[in-house]
Amino acid sequence: MKILFVCLGNICRSPLAEALFNKHIQEIAPDSNIIGESAGTSGMHVGEAPDPRTLANAKKHGLEISHKGRQFKVADLDKYDKILTMDDSNLNNVLKLASNPQQKEKVYKIRQFDIPPTDLEVPDPWYGGDEGFEKVYRILDKATKNLALGLLKELDSKS
Ligand code: 4NP
Repeated sequence: MKILFVCLGNICRSPLAEALFNKHIQEIAPDSNIIGESAGTSGMHVGEAPDPRTLANAKKHGLEISHKGRQFKVADLDKYDKILTMDDSNLNNVLKLASNPQQKEKVYKIRQFDIPPTDLEVPDPWYGGDEGFEKVYRILDKATKNLALGLLKELDSKS
């Protein structure tokens, strides 16, 4: 099962979501064959490492992130099983590229997997200070853990 996390620049929120999700999967079910990756709807930061503020915040929590920015492409709508966007803007930009119901059904906002689910966004920390990066870390740590648990349950019920 392949999961794609999507934000705008692919240097702050989605690479962190990818790293946290893969860490949770490794801890909960290392043999599960579920893999998280990430992309951005814009091409502004293609090939770049994550934002230094994201890297510093993750390091503070003992998390290493290894990723190079890449832009979301139409083929991703077929390649991935679920696509988890961070906010309404990412959601709408991805949905605009979807051309059939099967593709549209794969696209969610990540906080729909919070327990209880919420309609809230993962706020873009780009223009703010360090506290914004810490807030994003806390939101994504919880949301990616609940997502991992939910997917494992889903796979279990199908087997
Ligand atoms: P991200 O944050 O979408 O979480 O990666 C941003 C990164 C860069 C920009 C905006 C948001 N930017 O305007 O360059």
